[in-house]
Amino acid sequence: MDVAKAIKKRRSIRHFQSKPIPKDFEEKLIEALLWAPSAGNLQSRKFYLVKDKTVKEKLVNLALYQSFVLEAPLVIVACADSRIKRRYSQRGRNLYSICDTAVSIENLMLQATELGLGSCWVGSFDEDKIKEILTIPDYLKPIAVIPIGFLAEKPEAPPRAKKEEVIEYK
Ligand SMILES: Cc1cc2nc3c(=O)[nH]c(=O)nc-3n(C[C@H](O)[C@H](O)[C@H](O)COP(=O)(O)O)c2cc1C
Repeated sequence: MDVAKAIKKRRSIRHFQSKPIPKDFEEKLIEALLWAPSAGNLQSRKFYLVKDKTVKEKLVNLALYQSFVLEAPLVIVACADSRIKRRYSQRGRNLYSICDTAVSIENLMLQATELGLGSCWVGSFDEDKIKEILTIPDYLKPIAVIPIGFLAEKPEAPPRAKKEEVIEYK
């Protein structure tokens, strides 16, 4: 699939089949996470891959009961690593580490699309409770919970802003 097609085909998917993700697909998703750009190539990010049903249930409870998270065979919790501040101080911690994590997530979602998998960036959750459940160290900040699996729905594309609203030539 060419990149332009994957960009437009990717949708936020909120219903999944229970079918597991093949191991070679999972490896491609991991590669997509690893190969994203990052500030100073410090790769200030970490990803927890959750497959355990009990852990997923806990994630649903602290993600405002967004129950579709439990439907997905794989749930990735993406975290920004604040240790980047050793090199880039507050801007590194408050911005670059979050950018590093976000670009990995977009890579992941596009790769998932190419593999025929659906995903959704879930940003509403209780950050402290996620850290507690997954025993995430203090220097990591959970940015997104991303359920991934084969699609059980094909939603229409939500509208986008008009080009004139978002793009300005100078
Ligand atoms: C930072 C961020 C947080 C989001 N949080 C949620 C969320 O908590 N729950 C959810 O169902 N979708 C969430 N989304 C997905 C958006 O609702 C979705 O991307 C948007 O409606 C556009 O639809 P599309 O992804 O199908 O193009 C989030 C997306 C982003 C980028």
